[in-house]
Amino acid sequence: MGKHGVQILNLDVNELLKMLNEALSEEWLAFYQYWIGARLMEGPMRGEIEAELLIHAGQELNHAVLVVGRIIQLGGKPVTNPKDWFKLSRCDYDEPTDPYVEVILEQNLKGERCAIQRYKEIADFTNGKDHTTHQIATTILNEELEHEQDIEDFITDIQRIREDWKKLRS
Ligand SMILES: [Fe+2]
Ligand SMILES: [Fe+2]
Repeated sequence: MGKHGVQILNLDVNELLKMLNEALSEEWLAFYQYWIGARLMEGPMRGEIEAELLIHAGQELNHAVLVVGRIIQLGGKPVTNPKDWFKLSRCDYDEPTDPYVEVILEQNLKGERCAIQRYKEIADFTNGKDHTTHQIATTILNEELEHEQDIEDFITDIQRIREDWKKLRS
């Protein structure tokens, strides 16, 4: 970004760049968590859930595009080595060792809640000070909230199927 564009920001740009690089690392890990989980998943409503998880994966990748664009505009250096994703990310990457659909969904839900916290913090940090980053953070935050809702709904439906089976057997 032009020097003037950075100068008019009424905040600590280095602190913001640190937060954005952490968010960028989290997006890549979230992308892979969704993408590989969707392929390994087994259990009820597999086809429907797999399709939705792949849509979420694509949206996480798009968040990475928005975040990296802003880091570069601010004159920062985006994280270039995937090894650093684990050091910078505050959200866990949960390896999908158990492919049961509900386990995969719970792992993704944990990631979404972590992402919601991240973008809330970036939105708060930039509120009234850096309109561009604030707009990016709220745009992403809205999608993370939708992701959380989608996953909660799937978990509710799977639990309901299980309850109905139990009733039929008793
Ligand atoms: Fe995301
Ligand atoms: Fe998400």
